Amino acid sequence: MIGATHLERRIIIISVAFAMTLFGLAALAINLFHVGLPTCLTDIKPFQKGEIITHSPTHYELHYVARMWKFEPEDVMVPAGSTVDIYLSTPDVTHGLILLGTDLNLMAVPGVVNYARVKFDHPRVYQLLCHEFCGTGHERMAANLRVVDMATFNAKHSAPVPSQPNDPVYRLMEAKDCMTCHSIDGSESIGPTLKGISGRTTKLTNGSVVTADDVYLRESIVKPEAKIVDGFDDVMPKPELTEEEVNAIIEYLKTLK
Ligand code: CUA
Repeated sequence: MIGATHLERRIIIISVAFAMTLFGLAALAINLFHVGLPTCLTDIKPFQKGEIITHSPTHYELHYVARMWKFEPEDVMVPAGSTVDIYLSTPDVTHGLILLGTDLNLMAVPGVVNYARVKFDHPRVYQLLCHEFCGTGHERMAANLRVVDMATFNAKHSAPVPSQPNDPVYRLMEAKDCMTCHSIDGSESIGPTLKGISGRTTKLTNGSVVTADDVYLRESIVKPEAKIVDGFDDVMPKPELTEEEVNAIIEYLKTLK
């Protein structure tokens, strides 16, 4: 056995120093910047239902289910100043969850639950995306997490919860994933709200201004990339709809005053 050479010893010292620096930085990030390190929890049973649980007015537990091809819940609202414990599970294949504008990046792996804690200080709409290719609907996997000021949050939560629209066309649109990105209550999401859309004057990304008549509505449904509303992205997939369904949707949109 020959003792370590001078060079070997130096390499070992440098490697150990690197590893210690790494752990030191992680510890610093956790303690100083309150970065929540993603954790794989093997002792929690994967859940099948997305939900938000209120622990206190500023502490929430959020269970996300990533499945082909949506996140549940799709639209979450918490007040600014909240700490949110995010748990992620999947019943089918591997997905990823990235919360744009934050450090949050979790994998959804079948059979386990992944966890991270995020504190939201300021009002903002965060978009959640799947970042792991998971099949043909992968690029549609998105959801919203809205951080609103406490007054808005309280106002929304004390108001009576509107009953789920019973209109068959609404349900058709839900089945075709329209409601993943469009609201009918006036709130903006990934796409513009459908409330009051018929007859609305809208500025487009190319700077022109259009009025949403039947022709515009039809084109926006069957050829979503043709005209993009200013402030939004060209992300709407072409829905599979029959001619009758397109007509029914146009008529339904006119009722959303
Ligand atoms: Cu789920 Cu990509």
